[in-house]
Amino acid sequence: MKKMEVVVEGSCYVSGRLERCCVGIEDGKIAKIAKLLEGDKEYHFGSKLILPGATDAHVHFRDPGMTQKEDFATGSLAALYGGVTCVFDMPNTRPPTTTVAAMRDKKKIASAKSMVDFGLFAGVRPGMDAAGLAKESIGFKLYMASTTGELLVPSLETINGEISAIASTGKVLAVHAEDESMRKKEIEKDLEDHLRNRSNDCERIAIRKVKEAAKGCRLHICHVSAKSSIPLIERVPNLTSEVTPQHVLLDVSSRLGKLAKVNPPLRKREDRHALFQALKEGTFDIIASDHAPHTIDEKHEDFDYAPTGMPGVETMVPMMLQHVKDKHLELSGFVRMLCERPGEIYGIRKGKIAVGYDADLMVVDASAGTIIRADNLHSKCGWTAFEGVSGIFPHAVFLRGQLMIENGGQVGERAGRDVVG
Ligand code: NCD
Ligand code: ZN
Repeated sequence: MKKMEVVVEGSCYVSGRLERCCVGIEDGKIAKIAKLLEGDKEYHFGSKLILPGATDAHVHFRDPGMTQKEDFATGSLAALYGGVTCVFDMPNTRPPTTTVAAMRDKKKIASAKSMVDFGLFAGVRPGMDAAGLAKESIGFKLYMASTTGELLVPSLETINGEISAIASTGKVLAVHAEDESMRKKEIEKDLEDHLRNRSNDCERIAIRKVKEAAKGCRLHICHVSAKSSIPLIERVPNLTSEVTPQHVLLDVSSRLGKLAKVNPPLRKREDRHALFQALKEGTFDIIASDHAPHTIDEKHEDFDYAPTGMPGVETMVPMMLQHVKDKHLELSGFVRMLCERPGEIYGIRKGKIAVGYDADLMVVDASAGTIIRADNLHSKCGWTAFEGVSGIFPHAVFLRGQLMIENGGQVGERAGRDVVG
């Protein structure tokens, strides 16, 4: 029997079910899956689960320009501890990632600092070079309502040409779907006010408009948050969708106040329940964190001034694994939404334990539950909206065959690279 470079043995999730076997790894890729394999390096995890590493298709690592909140080193370390071996970073940095030059600069930063693999979104802006940006980016991101950053495109008529150009690149157009003209601008004192300013219709109308205006594009609707939006994203050809843990686990009745001020807003309990139900039924393609760190001082400003967004890249997988353990979510759904679909939608060989895929793996001990504590997390922002919530953090994590987390602690060398090239 030919020896593999690396062999990982355990209860592996292969072709939709768990089986006790070995994953053979060569040159960072899965080369063979068999009952017995020998390797120069062997890792035996017994009955622990071996799952594909997760891809978080929506993070804001703030680098460059807002590194007091986060940078690529801290954000990606948080990702790694949370079982996320690939992240797609959003373009609302400073400068925004809307030019090829800005894209290349960010790529240099991320290549030097990232602990996990990454893709970079290009921001949509009138006059941008879609063809040039497509070569460098994982996809395009469009902001239809004002939020953190300066990438607002208030009217889709101003970007007809850019939308056609994106369509011909074949890249995904990911959309922050809130309609700027529907958004109210009343002063906000609490989460209820924030929700009133950004109503369910504000999201629904935006989704309707972008579906109409971007017919030729592969559309991806980010962070769907309202019950009334669900019928608009279900079974639509060329359209995929995403939901965040915060929109299925928290609602406007949260006592977290400003910490839970996010865009789109946390909505009513009935919205949250409808989203969780839809999530269980497989309506959404992806669960992504929308990891949007802000410093605690910024979050403690008056409600109206406090920035929107919360961190989540490290807590997403642990909380969702807890839901699998508690039988609120099937393991197959977990793997599909957190691992497989991001890879399929964005065309990268990640998210499956199958020959030819990157050997990104998380090893999970389902009996080892923990309580989430901000003190134990790795984002620079230092706080979480999920303090005290139960989670199952990965016992070990491999990035392209390299052991990066062992016994819940960091071991590997920094090796993150761009999935686009
Ligand atoms: C995000 C941020 O802070 O970058 N904030 C948020 O509330 N989700 C921006 C965004 O995605 O709207
Ligand atoms: Zn976002």
